[in-house]
Amino acid sequence: MTHVQQNSFSSIQKEFPILSRKIGKHSLVYLDNAATTQKPLTVLKAMDAYYRLHNANVHRGIYRLAEEATLAYELAHQKTADFIHAQSMREIIFTRGTTDSLNMLARMLSSSVEKGDEIVVSQIEHHSNLIPWQQLANAQKAALKFIPLDKKSGMLDLSRIDKIITSKTKIVSIPHVSNVLGTIVPIKEIARRAHKVGAVVSVDAAQSVPHMPVNVRSLECDFFSFSGHKMYGPTGIGVLWGKESLLNHLEPVSFGGEMVREVYYDRATWNDLPWKFEAGTPPIAEGVGLSAAIDFLQKQGMEKVRAHEKELVKYAYDKLFALKNISIYGPEPKFRSGVITFNATPVHPHDLASLLNEKGIAIRAGHHCAMPLATLLNISASARASFGIYNTQQEVDLLVESIKKAQSIFSGGKRAVV
Ligand SMILES: Cc1ncc(COP(=O)(O)O)c(C=O)c1O
Repeated sequence: MTHVQQNSFSSIQKEFPILSRKIGKHSLVYLDNAATTQKPLTVLKAMDAYYRLHNANVHRGIYRLAEEATLAYELAHQKTADFIHAQSMREIIFTRGTTDSLNMLARMLSSSVEKGDEIVVSQIEHHSNLIPWQQLANAQKAALKFIPLDKKSGMLDLSRIDKIITSKTKIVSIPHVSNVLGTIVPIKEIARRAHKVGAVVSVDAAQSVPHMPVNVRSLECDFFSFSGHKMYGPTGIGVLWGKESLLNHLEPVSFGGEMVREVYYDRATWNDLPWKFEAGTPPIAEGVGLSAAIDFLQKQGMEKVRAHEKELVKYAYDKLFALKNISIYGPEPKFRSGVITFNATPVHPHDLASLLNEKGIAIRAGHHCAMPLATLLNISASARASFGIYNTQQEVDLLVESIKKAQSIFSGGKRAVV
């Protein structure tokens, strides 16, 4: 079977300096995009120029540099709002990343949860969308309930959703895309059920925003969290989007810096949105980097990004599926984003990752920050290849050939060239 490599991104690797690196004598094949993505030159240059030419603290000075820095930082909010189709930049809070956004949100919502209430998550959560809610539920003596995984289809089982999301449910927090299974979760369907009982809906979108067009309004959620570094931007910045009508009624959870309007010895009042939720000196250079990453993605077109990764994941899935002694976790390719988690018997995933590294191939091995899901799947570890805009079918071919060789070595074949 010959596949024609969709070539809309055929020359894009050139825009990522790190991708021309050698690992030993091999070209780097970077397949750990769910953990973090590499950065295009435009992002590196934008951050470099910011520090060389414009660096100052924001919202404070009235001199030229401070005005430029403030403008760039505010523009980053506006671009982010446009990118996810938010109503306005007042709804865009910059955080340190998805984990920070979700922890912050759990603290912001804590007073709305009382003893006997329920919080709903799913069985496929990354720890970052499990532990904050687990801690909140424990602290308030509320119950934490789970939308189950249908292990056969790799999708969430929504058949009993009315029993799980009930009149006691105050918060539903679900992933848009599973970082282990690649499953795309039907957010709108779950949000509609949650809203029927008056619950608020938070979405962990760490694995969707970089890979598909998103529109927070058509998803019908209330809060939406994602990370800059997984979308070709810098580390140290993330986003918490919230509906303005809800954010207006929530109290800040971090204090100091430009989040205040007036301060007295015994009390303080808060700045406008979104600044009331951004305490201290914010991630300014990172905001500039995130702006450049959004420009980069928009230039490619998110529909095209999705089409490229969909084709690649189908190609990789079919090739991996054809191997002997392979277990692939999660749904059919058409229901997943660009993540494939698997075990290639008899090779332990850590051994596999280390053998692939000898070929310059970077994949992830372990529990992928989702230990309860690994337990549910009856595995202690797995290997994960996750794709981005710059990956190609040739790289998938190399991955699959190298897995085959690793299997042969561990089945008693010769340990020679992997
Ligand atoms: C689904 C999901 N949620 C949350 C996170 C946490 O993101 P960060 O480490 O950027 O805070 C990740 C990162 O792997 C993820 O995949």
